[in-house]
Amino acid sequence: MKKIAIIKEKIDCFNKTISVQGDKSLSIRWALIASQALGISRAYNLLESEDVKSTLKALSKLGIKINYKKNYYEIYGNGLNGFSFSNNTVIDAQNSGTLARLILGVLAKSNNTIILKGDSSLARRDFSRVIKPLNYFGVKIKSNKNKLPIKTKGTKFLRPIYYEELKGSAQVKSCIMLAALNSPGITKIKCVPSRDHTERFFKHIKIPFKKTKKNGFEIIEIKGQKQYQSLNYRIPGDISSAAFFIVLTLLSKNSKILIKNLNVNKSRTGIIEILNIMNAKIKLKNKRIYKSEDIADVYVESSSSLKSINCPKTLNSKAIDEFLLIFLACAKAKGVSYFKNIGELRHKECDRLKFAAKFLKMIGIKSVETKDSLKIYGNPNLSLNGEYEIKNFQKDHRVCMLSFIGALTLGGKWKIKDIESINTSFPKFIDIIKKIGAKIN
Ligand code: S3P
Repeated sequence: MKKIAIIKEKIDCFNKTISVQGDKSLSIRWALIASQALGISRAYNLLESEDVKSTLKALSKLGIKINYKKNYYEIYGNGLNGFSFSNNTVIDAQNSGTLARLILGVLAKSNNTIILKGDSSLARRDFSRVIKPLNYFGVKIKSNKNKLPIKTKGTKFLRPIYYEELKGSAQVKSCIMLAALNSPGITKIKCVPSRDHTERFFKHIKIPFKKTKKNGFEIIEIKGQKQYQSLNYRIPGDISSAAFFIVLTLLSKNSKILIKNLNVNKSRTGIIEILNIMNAKIKLKNKRIYKSEDIADVYVESSSSLKSINCPKTLNSKAIDEFLLIFLACAKAKGVSYFKNIGELRHKECDRLKFAAKFLKMIGIKSVETKDSLKIYGNPNLSLNGEYEIKNFQKDHRVCMLSFIGALTLGGKWKIKDIESINTSFPKFIDIIKKIGAKIN
């Protein structure tokens, strides 16, 4: 893939039916959970992206057998903590925060030391959020001031813990849930709601666990040490990948799109809720349930009457990976939009809040950024004809794909660098966007 993309033309007037690749969160979770099952699990439509490849590579290094057959992956699980690896085995999570945080939970009972490292973007991210609960379980961790590289050694006697997860981080919650699988007794987590794929997988594989709600928090209780059987799974499409086409369609003229077979789990559809509050008319069609997850086709039409939003903070974690796109929609909406308690955006593949303010300024939109909020002064007549360059220093895949959507909906001549970062989550992005009509050099 060429490292730079040049886009000089907008796209309008398309009417397409597309599918996007498999969901990243589900693909990584399936692989980690299958590695702990008893027997052979299969996954169809597993996302073939760098983050998922890093996951499969990590599991192979831990002694798990993995096969790729004609159209599915097979993982041979040896049961809970059924790993076999030598001391000081190195695992490279590359760019994947989800892999790095979740695998630390899976390894909570390992009897050899693991060294976990990542690329320069992952190396600047915070791991205290998982080190702290893992220490309570009894896991011994040495880190570089709470950052990678991390040396971890599990404990034979994993104490069940009580933990309050107040960031609304699904990675932290899932890390604890996966560690709890190896712990005798009941681990309890009080948490701010976040994506609940791990809970749904646990329900599907019949792990004894309970989830209740109290005063806006969720209380999860997991009874550990129950072996479970292998799980076959067809990974649905990723709403976070579909989001690029949702906003592309919304901001293009006279266009329609139907995106098939998406995971529309309520904890992931914040972008649809937010855009519909802003006057979009995005519809879910053909809704169904598959192995405890919600699936549907998503239908979107262009909208020329978007209005601003004072975004309820309860939607933040449901839209956590889609905010850059939502900010772009706000740039074209009438009125001033306001997002509060979004400081977590500073801890993603890059500081996305800082990037958003810079990006908005570049396209001529006023915004006010604080430590954890953003105000955007929208302009429905926004149309560009200058030259724009996206450097993407941290090689953030979502920054890169957002820039394509900006170029294709706002006009002007765009030079987007480091486009290989797209492979982190959505290698087919450029093929699909070309099929819709984009001209990319
Ligand atoms: C993810 C959780 C979110 C999200 C990330 C994937 C997951 O991170 O941003 O892309 O699969 O659990 P946080 O848990 O840090 O919010």
